[in-house]
Amino acid sequence: MPTIDPVTRDLWQVIAATDEIVPGIIETTLLLDIRIALTRDSDGNPVVWRRTDEEQGDEIDPETIIDRLPAITGYGYIWTSLGSPPAALFPIPEYAEPDRKNMSCGSIGIHVSAPRAVENFLDMGHFPYVHTDILGAEPHTEVKEYDVEVSEERDEVLATRCRFIQPRAAKSATSAMEVEYVYRVPHPFCSVLYKSCPEDESRRDVIAIFLQPMTEERCRAHLLQSMIDSTSTITDLRRFQQTIFGQDKPILENQYPKRLPLDPRSETPIRADKSAIAYRRWLSQKGITYGVIPVAS
Ligand SMILES: [Fe+2]
Repeated sequence: MPTIDPVTRDLWQVIAATDEIVPGIIETTLLLDIRIALTRDSDGNPVVWRRTDEEQGDEIDPETIIDRLPAITGYGYIWTSLGSPPAALFPIPEYAEPDRKNMSCGSIGIHVSAPRAVENFLDMGHFPYVHTDILGAEPHTEVKEYDVEVSEERDEVLATRCRFIQPRAAKSATSAMEVEYVYRVPHPFCSVLYKSCPEDESRRDVIAIFLQPMTEERCRAHLLQSMIDSTSTITDLRRFQQTIFGQDKPILENQYPKRLPLDPRSETPIRADKSAIAYRRWLSQKGITYGVIPVAS
């Protein structure tokens, strides 16, 4: 059993979409190599514990579960922790805006580490080649200069002024446009993306990826969309995001090694990788060892 570093152990970790968990019915999953069981009580609140002999689909009276792990709901998902998590999840204030369409877009298993999946989410260089004619197209392959900082105050990586010409930036887009992205990494295994909204130039669509580290080389990607879109249905919006992610999955699974090397010299950096380099350094400074290959000391 691999060791779980103390920082990872104390984080909130996503484990399921809230509305997929039926009260009184057991769901099972894997988190940081630990077998987990969960359900919801009669008020809908999540109940999470270390699984023993329970089976998926079994009925249970949640009141009988005494030895519980911490559990909260946030952004449509259930989160737990194997240690002592902070009082609240990282903020996504836009989620509370009343006219947004908020939706979970599925939980997809990927045979790669959670940090690798975060890094792919930050990378714009792959758009024309992997998301051809949707998020990018030749000849517009250039990743323009952008800014990256680590916010000390919020303890997150922030990439701003990321611009890219996209044939079909969103479900609501009717023509090619130069979109501007802001990426936040507010949690070692989660990233939040803000992108120009085709329907309202003054606001931004929000797409977040929450990775559930199942083992050091396997994760589940839980996707959130918080969109300004008055015409598309939730089903359409979900399908659009699932199409994009379906294109990423085989690319991610071909990454080698599956754990993310934190040594900046281990993979040749190019300018487009500026956010990846900041992310790797931030993980290193935090002391994250789960799902990564730490810098040799
Ligand atoms: Fe992608």
